[in-house]
Amino acid sequence: MNPLQLDFTKAFGPAADERLEAIRPEAEKSLRTLYEGTGAGNDFLGWLHLPSSITDTQLTDIEQTAERLRACQAVVVIGIGGSYLGARAVIEALTDSFDALRTGADRTHPVILYAGNQIGEDYLSELCDLLRGRDFGIINISKSGTTTEPAIAFRILRSLLEENVGAAAAKERIVAVTDRARGALRTLADREGYKTYVIPDDVGGRYSVLTPVGLLPIAVAGIDIRALVRGAVEMERAVGPDVPFDRNPALRYAAARQALYREGKKIEILANFHPKLHYVGEWWKQLYGESEGKDHRGLFPAAVDLTTDLHSMGQWIQQGERTIFETVVSIDSPERTLSVPTDADNLDGLNYLAGRRVDEINKMAELGTRLAHASGGVPNIRVSIPRLTADHLGRLLYFFEAACGISGYLSGVNPFDQPGVEAYKSNMFALLDKPGFEAESRAIRAQLG
Ligand code: PA5
Repeated sequence: MNPLQLDFTKAFGPAADERLEAIRPEAEKSLRTLYEGTGAGNDFLGWLHLPSSITDTQLTDIEQTAERLRACQAVVVIGIGGSYLGARAVIEALTDSFDALRTGADRTHPVILYAGNQIGEDYLSELCDLLRGRDFGIINISKSGTTTEPAIAFRILRSLLEENVGAAAAKERIVAVTDRARGALRTLADREGYKTYVIPDDVGGRYSVLTPVGLLPIAVAGIDIRALVRGAVEMERAVGPDVPFDRNPALRYAAARQALYREGKKIEILANFHPKLHYVGEWWKQLYGESEGKDHRGLFPAAVDLTTDLHSMGQWIQQGERTIFETVVSIDSPERTLSVPTDADNLDGLNYLAGRRVDEINKMAELGTRLAHASGGVPNIRVSIPRLTADHLGRLLYFFEAACGISGYLSGVNPFDQPGVEAYKSNMFALLDKPGFEAESRAIRAQLG
């Protein structure tokens, strides 16, 4: 049995099977389009068989580079969108929640910091303050090698690192993950002699977590990348075209969300009841948002952390406009054990929970929420994995990727391009008078009056 389980009973009620069955022929056609490589964007299908094609040599090489970087006090992962969200999702899910505050013998790996995922001057200044005088490493990730946000962060942090440890030692602490031949980062890395990893041409940023884009930072954080890949390989086998509809989770999830979209649901909310999954939600939002949101269609992917956001977004979800459905990512068992203690005074009235596991309470919150939302008109899909471990997370990530590819074809869009991302860049370059954008600069200034 697949350790990743889906529950549609609160999405469609007892008629779940018939509802999924109705969309099955189209879903199967989309799956074939994906695997036969006959759809739009078919030059970006390298992720499809990526897990099973990763070699032992590649993993060893990544592990060795990670080991070298682990000698640093901190490692800054520079990247934006698909060039950092996957790594952050896995690292935050699988490392101690208070990792950054641990010191001395408690530290098994460098503090992982992130930059280049926005253009905040205060953020970058504070990061520089923190890193001044310290021995840190940089993993600079950009497939195009020309993205402005990471390029600015790299220019600033590289100069700081050279000040801290000298130019020669800085080279040993910088790793570039980029295109094999194109882009400014490739040119710089080759000139400076940085260790580099290649992002395959046929793997887009948001599908790249299992390339060195994700695997290198994840390995630096001390996570078992072999287990992560192993889980993904198992899921690759479990969602392929030879796996029938009733046993193919990616196919069924894609079919369910498309059925709900066609019924008028416009927003899918990914909900977790596990604070460590916050960045899995961020990664998922990018994956589905960039893949499906085009040609004026597509579900809007939102994410909430529960029960936290039940005290902020809960009201809207329960009683706001009925254009939403919810997908709950659930972890069957926590890694740790903690129970509510008895209190002789019982002033907080909590003794009815004494001796019960915190996770039992969380699970009842989850079930209660799902029932409340479903009866409030919010269809609810549940995706569960047994534990939050590297292999199960590998399964979950690959499951979402495969379902996303199928979903895109079901929606009739190219799930592998992102033409809309260019619009803001062109305006920003025009406003900043970037050479080559003279005509755009004149046009935008005329527009501003
Ligand atoms: O999924 C994508 O393609 C994007 O989110 C990119 O990953 C993001 O824009 C960063 O691009 P690059 O890696 O070229 O710097």
